[in-house]
Amino acid sequence: MRNKSLLAGLLATGVLCLSSALGATKATVTVATFGETQDGEVVHVYTLKNRNGLSADIMTYGATVVRLMAPDRHGQLADVLLGFDNLADYENKSPYFGCVVGRYGNRIADGTFTLDGKTYTLAVNNADENVNAHLHGGNKGFDKVVWRAKPVITGHDAGVTLWHTSPDGDEGYPGTLEMKVTYFLTDNNELSIHYHATTDQATPINLTNHMYFNLQGEGIGDINGHFLTLNADHYTPVDIGLIPTGEIAPVAGTPMDFTTPRAIGERNNADHDQIRFGGGYDHNWVLNQADSGMTEAGEVYEPTTGRVMTIMTEEPGIQFYGGNFLEVDGVVRVGKSGVTYRHRTGFCLETQHYPDSPNQPNFPSTILRPGETYDTTTVYRFWAR
Ligand code: BGC
Repeated sequence: MRNKSLLAGLLATGVLCLSSALGATKATVTVATFGETQDGEVVHVYTLKNRNGLSADIMTYGATVVRLMAPDRHGQLADVLLGFDNLADYENKSPYFGCVVGRYGNRIADGTFTLDGKTYTLAVNNADENVNAHLHGGNKGFDKVVWRAKPVITGHDAGVTLWHTSPDGDEGYPGTLEMKVTYFLTDNNELSIHYHATTDQATPINLTNHMYFNLQGEGIGDINGHFLTLNADHYTPVDIGLIPTGEIAPVAGTPMDFTTPRAIGERNNADHDQIRFGGGYDHNWVLNQADSGMTEAGEVYEPTTGRVMTIMTEEPGIQFYGGNFLEVDGVVRVGKSGVTYRHRTGFCLETQHYPDSPNQPNFPSTILRPGETYDTTTVYRFWAR
């Protein structure tokens, strides 16, 4: 019902922006109004459609992917992303559904780091008796701002580019950061995300997307039966506060070993310190061959529908978060289809640099300096078998 009213609204207000001139069926980008923020800013949603009928809806609030229609083994499309059908829920109770997170995706210990001899203090927005951290950019990260946007079509690929300027001192970070994120839905059924940024002062940066997937379809059951493979022989163990210890540990012989396909639910309650600290899976895996450009990071297979998602990235790591806090944080989240999202009904695979890198000298650097360009691409490909 909720889905239908959202769709009807989009169709009613949608304006055809761009369509590719090539081929029988065209890739299209349409735009509609998604809502208005509590501060009165109008938020638009861009619908990218490829020639195979797949579509992705991206809204300007948080540069958020709000819907992604992917085929099962019979060609049946379903929305594989958790999310809301209204802006107020995104503003008030989203656990980062589908958005771009930054300036620094994941945690920075105690909300502080030292760069070029100067110590910076960031918001500590993730704290309880065990945890004391800056998470996903702070109180008002890039997930909570309205980005500027423009549709774009290249060949058969339908896209949208979003811009945002993060001012010097934003959430405590140094330097003015100019960002551009481009989403494309390609002819090859890929959602590609290209991140680009420049700065006028040295700053840490670690952008990622925080989509929650359920390949059965949003609102349908839990994710325990999905099979995950990660191209990673190592991971970064964490302490009880989910801050990396600095160690790069082998996955072999632990519940962190996804080098061959394993059901997510097989070991997510295992008697293992790392699983206890995360309340399940909530860790960064160190991708093999990460320094050789675009690499295959992993794959998720959902056996009842046959849906497969393959992830490729230029990033050195991937955070696999198993939706452990979807229900336990006391917030009731009713999703797009009217179903309440329960524990572990969605998972995230966030391509990234390792958490807390600004405080971890042996991790790859996340510092962007004036004159340099932050440029990184991640691709999620949808198919079925
Ligand atoms: C983190 C989790 C956090 C979640 C917030 C994930 O990226 O790894 O620890 O609770 O984001 O929704």
